[in-house]
Amino acid sequence: MNSDICRKKIALFGATGSIGRNTLDVIRRFPDRFELFAVSCHSNTAALEAIIDEFRPKYAVITGEGSLKRTDINVLRGKEGLEEVAAHHEADIVLIATLGTVGIFPTLAGLRACKRIALANKETLVAFGSVVVKELENSRGELIPVDSEHSALFQLLLSWKDDAETLILTASGGPLRKLSREEMERVKLADVLRHPTWNMGRKITVDSATLMNKGLEVIEAHWLFRFPPDRIEVVIHPQSIIHGLLRLRDGALVAHMSTPDMKVPIQYALTYPERLPSEVRSPDLPDLAALTFEPPDFDRFPLLKLAYEAINRRKGYPAVMNAANDVAVRAFLDGKIGFLDIEKTVFAVVNEFRGTDEDLDALIEADLWARKRAGEVVDSLV
Ligand SMILES: NC(=O)c1ccc[n+]([C@@H]2O[C@H](COP(=O)([O-])OP(=O)(O)OC[C@H]3O[C@@H](n4cnc5c(N)ncnc54)[C@H](OP(=O)(O)O)[C@@H]3O)[C@@H](O)[C@H]2O)c1
Repeated sequence: MNSDICRKKIALFGATGSIGRNTLDVIRRFPDRFELFAVSCHSNTAALEAIIDEFRPKYAVITGEGSLKRTDINVLRGKEGLEEVAAHHEADIVLIATLGTVGIFPTLAGLRACKRIALANKETLVAFGSVVVKELENSRGELIPVDSEHSALFQLLLSWKDDAETLILTASGGPLRKLSREEMERVKLADVLRHPTWNMGRKITVDSATLMNKGLEVIEAHWLFRFPPDRIEVVIHPQSIIHGLLRLRDGALVAHMSTPDMKVPIQYALTYPERLPSEVRSPDLPDLAALTFEPPDFDRFPLLKLAYEAINRRKGYPAVMNAANDVAVRAFLDGKIGFLDIEKTVFAVVNEFRGTDEDLDALIEADLWARKRAGEVVDSLV
């Protein structure tokens, strides 16, 4: 068998990030199965050069500032570069692990070109879910979730779609799970970045602390699986062993468990419907004796409640909430505002918004408006 013919060519956007590095580990493990065809970074070109040295992809896309020293690779820029690579006839799988909403452009371009999109970038579905779903309906491409909870639900739904009444997403509860609102007021960036179970990028780690990450995931699940928000539950499960559950109509509850390591869902998104051996061991049964569950506290974590409201309101509210959160989290990471100023900023912007159409241009406009307004709110808080 000629392995070059069988190897899947992967375009990996956000290659220098946390998901990107985990994906490279999976590709390293299966050199006969996968080949890195293209990579992207935003501005960390030094890390991108190291990846190119090792994997020799054909294309590199830089979405921000900076350039590569080498000349032995095709370099493209910006969202147009992502689109060109995503639609390239040689690419088989496009794994999107960029930050922010730029992921919508390669997602649409890849679906139009009938590719498998392995989507880690949840902000794309949160802001543009209706647009992606419409594109998917007319496409022979496919959308496979990489987020661990959605990968778990995707796998469970393969067996129980017709009998599933409710989806349950688990949340670790993040690093501030037990803090009062007064304690949250004084919390430091280092405390927020100390996630108890997952090792992730800084933005999503802050989102885990506010539970906005789970709110974004409720919206992501709504669009991926077409369940209404009142049939999507969240449960706090600090050990992060169970990632998703289904309540079935006959009273059964089925769960998906794995060790909290993103290589598991990444590998599945690349190999689906096949399963290959993994370097990650499944959990040991004695560890399951200590699993705990509690309902989320919507009063201490109001952004989770806001996410449910946003998806019920639709009309661009999820896009605006997500964009305002993006700006506020960045300001928190830069030390400009305090932890609770994140939610203050998001609420201020969402409360001002009056709704829009759900087509791509209108949603992009709403996203841009929310980023500008959030920047102004942040400045007023500094
Ligand atoms: N980390 C996880 O375990 C996890 C789990 C589930 C879902 N996700 C989702 O996956 C996505 C990536 O998360 P991450 O934790 O891997 O983030 P990360 O570690 O911060 O990496 C982000 C990647 O995107 C690039 N990037 C940053 N800003 C960008 C922009 N404006 N346009 C295009 N690319 C940009 C970065 O390039 P530079 O290095 O050059 O800045 C880097 O390659 C997010 O949407 C997140 O919600 C992550």
